[in-house]
Amino acid sequence: MNDRLLNIALPKGRLGEKVYAMFERAGFECPSIKEGGRRLIFENPEKGVRYFWVKPSDVAIYVERGAADIGVAGKDIILEYRPDIYELLDLGVGKCHMAVAAKEDFTDNREKTLRVATKFSKIARDYYSRLGRDIDIIHLNGSIELAPILGLSDVIVDIVETGATLRENKLTVIEKFQPISARLIANKASFKFRAPMIECIRQALFAEVADKSE
Ligand code: PRP
Repeated sequence: MNDRLLNIALPKGRLGEKVYAMFERAGFECPSIKEGGRRLIFENPEKGVRYFWVKPSDVAIYVERGAADIGVAGKDIILEYRPDIYELLDLGVGKCHMAVAAKEDFTDNREKTLRVATKFSKIARDYYSRLGRDIDIIHLNGSIELAPILGLSDVIVDIVETGATLRENKLTVIEKFQPISARLIANKASFKFRAPMIECIRQALFAEVADKSE
């Protein structure tokens, strides 16, 4: 019997709060997490869980290296970094799309290399290599929408959720090519050695997802 607390990495921010609420409804609550402040780690020994808030793009690293047994990461991060983890469940929250967008008057000249600004270089490379299109990746870390406006790139590859950021910057979607949502992921060794508890959490969260879609 393995009785150490199960380490769970949650993505800090709005999505993380939604995801924690799912764990809470699933019976794995940790009341101290709601106290606010700057603390990052919260435990509920009665339930056998220890949660910590991690930058969303870092969750998969904690899980891959075993600092977290399980965690919640966006499909975008999983596709971009290809961590060596198990993907256990689509939680059905944090839904958005990966898309190509450009200025409203953009027309593609296939004789020229397409300049693509993105935070998701690998996803963008894979997408255009499937199309057989020559591209030049301009890797940025945020405010990607600025790139075509200022002439830094021809298009962007980025996440579109409500579409408000594109609209307010007079950009338009050219193609949505990959649905994204939050996934429950597990460290491979933990999945083996902590199987009963991880399976119990997966099933309880699955019931939450199923409930919501009714
Ligand atoms: C993400 C994404 C878009 C925006 C899309 O940015 O990169 O800019 O959200 O959401 P919307 O379709 O609902 O407008 P984020 O908020 O992560 O900030 P960033 O620009 O710093 O990456």
